[in-house]
Amino acid sequence: MSDYPFLKACRGEATEFTPVWLMRQAGRYLPQYMAVRSKCTFLELCKTPELAAEVTIQPIDYLGADAAILFSDILTPVEPMGLKLDFVPGPVFESPVRSMADVDALRIPDPEEGVPYVMETLRILRRAFEGRVPLIGFGGAPFTLACYMVEGKGSKDFAHIKKMMYAAPDVYTALMDKITEMDRLYLNAQVKAGAQAIQIFDTWGGIVSPTDYEKFVLPYTKKLIDGLDRSVPVIHFVKGAGTMLDLVNRAGSDVVGLDWHVNLGKARDILGPKIGVQGNLDPTVLYAPHAHIEREVKRILDENAGRPGHIFNLGHGILPNVPPENAKFMVECVHRLSGR
Ligand code: CP3
Repeated sequence: MSDYPFLKACRGEATEFTPVWLMRQAGRYLPQYMAVRSKCTFLELCKTPELAAEVTIQPIDYLGADAAILFSDILTPVEPMGLKLDFVPGPVFESPVRSMADVDALRIPDPEEGVPYVMETLRILRRAFEGRVPLIGFGGAPFTLACYMVEGKGSKDFAHIKKMMYAAPDVYTALMDKITEMDRLYLNAQVKAGAQAIQIFDTWGGIVSPTDYEKFVLPYTKKLIDGLDRSVPVIHFVKGAGTMLDLVNRAGSDVVGLDWHVNLGKARDILGPKIGVQGNLDPTVLYAPHAHIEREVKRILDENAGRPGHIFNLGHGILPNVPPENAKFMVECVHRLSGR
């Protein structure tokens, strides 16, 4: 089943229409999700394969998206490394990583033992989706995982991780090496369990200067991608990296994710014809009237100018209060306006 439009676009092949899915397409904007979520915590949902599979399928049924993404979180595989995780609703680690002793205490478990529920969810989903839509597995980029593990939660200035980078480079390097190895095993296990593409989310990769990105972020993402099972395409999304796409490209993915701060046509010129792109609609556009949503979809398709290797998506995750029918309308617009 390698001729799904989404997978063809990942490989840079021409498609009959532009495939589309939405980052964070399963979630709180959908009443169907809230109905399941009201009976358990977010982590319980991630750890119960039947429920995780159910909420993964919901946006496929409702939106008609061209790819499904595993329901989980980038931080689920960090918990079995030995860091207790909670969501309140943002992620919180009770004991953040701050010293070499903290890094030494981290484990790198076999993914089938550490996160068996993720692997089981993927197996259920592959059976459920066969012949319908391809299944995307995902993980956080090493740097974004390190941000949460060192800060202990989200942050405005990321002072702890930057302090570690600059003032304790040996601790930083040891931590990043360990996370990168965990991630490599985790993502390859996802492919073995049925993921047909892998997306790497580097939500915080854009908080450093291009010089620091090249020194402290890129080497680990590149090492991760070099170590992945490349029988499936790899999508690499670095938020806020519009000014350093040449560096992002060096990590070696098949597709580069674009937020909305960059013009898609210019990004493609920088990345070159062999690299696909995914994005780049401003997520707040889904609050706008339909006519505006349609204009924005058309603008982005026009910027792509018919080049193969475009997957339509938002430039970041869908926002919680978006009317579901606006998300569905966006998907319809992409299909209708790109049909050829
Ligand atoms: O895309 C999908 O539909 C698959 C599921 C998915 C979730 N998180 C579910 C989730 C994916 C791909 C993620 C990735 C993720 N998680 C990222 C990278 C992408 C991005 O948005 O930048 C990051 C940084 C996280 C960490 C995280 N998880 C945060 C900051 C939060 C709280 C804020 C928020 O958006 O809710 C979460 C919780 C979370 N992850 C929820 C969902 C559906 C909400 C949990 C709930 O139901 O209360």
